[in-house]
Amino acid sequence: MLDAVAETPVPAHPAADDDAPAAPAPSPVLVRTRADLREVLDRQRGTRAVVMTMGALHEGHLDLVREARRRADHVVVTIFVNPLQFAPGEDLDAYPRDLEADLAKLAEVGADVVFAPDPETMYPNGDPRVRVEPGPLAAVLEGATRPTHFAGVLTVVLKLLHLTRPHVALFGQKDAQQLALVRAMVRDLDVDVEVVGVPIRREPDGLAMSSRNAYLSGTDRAAALALSGALDAARGAAGAGAEQVLAAARERLVAEPGVRLDYLELVDPETMEAVPADASGPALLVVAAWVGTTRLIDNTILDLWKDE
Ligand code: PAF
Repeated sequence: MLDAVAETPVPAHPAADDDAPAAPAPSPVLVRTRADLREVLDRQRGTRAVVMTMGALHEGHLDLVREARRRADHVVVTIFVNPLQFAPGEDLDAYPRDLEADLAKLAEVGADVVFAPDPETMYPNGDPRVRVEPGPLAAVLEGATRPTHFAGVLTVVLKLLHLTRPHVALFGQKDAQQLALVRAMVRDLDVDVEVVGVPIRREPDGLAMSSRNAYLSGTDRAAALALSGALDAARGAAGAGAEQVLAAARERLVAEPGVRLDYLELVDPETMEAVPADASGPALLVVAAWVGTTRLIDNTILDLWKDE
């Protein structure tokens, strides 16, 4: 069903006027089907940005929408918990879902359209037989423990790009490997869209915002700070070279008994390949760890050099 579709054509979102009294934020148009989405998009004139999400929105997602708002006339947000990117035994059923709360947040940041299909709409013929083959970049880091994950991510991202036909698509830097893979897919498969990465949003104490933080108990929440703490320690050691950077981060992580490290690596931000011990210049420090039963990831870009 189509909620509150405007008459044709849909005007571009008005620019914010700082002096005007605050008017209640208009709700985004909620569409559930491909046909309704096409109808709304066909009425839009000007440029369009898409922000793809799995819902359970937090300030990190809202930053993506704010940046989208700055870059395009119309902003489409997709909300879809994509079964294809969850392996059996992962948290597909438990994944937090609250569409009403998400819509209220999206109204505040000026999203125009929310596309929230159900799995039968996205995959009308069941699990797709043809999927995006993400290549070697998907076999390392997250892909080492989640071997089918990125094929599921890239397949749904490509489908959503086709369905929403954006000029620009925004993804969070928090999922750095996902961002690198989306960039690679767009380049290698000639998808006509600009991909923009948006910096990680953190809680005041440094914890990277994530929908999965909702799973953390009070003790887990405190232990989870070891991840951002390790990245801080690593930044402090950037002038001592790659080995010292990794050692400083590892020291902080192993000192926290509530954290079980999965991986900690310094990689090339584009290829995700480990950088050599004598590397200098920009490198991405990536960490994944279990905190209680929750698996968290975090990362930071470092500028490596070595004081002689
Ligand atoms: O980052 C996410 O939330 C998901 O992987 C995405 C890009 C929405 C695809 O399902």
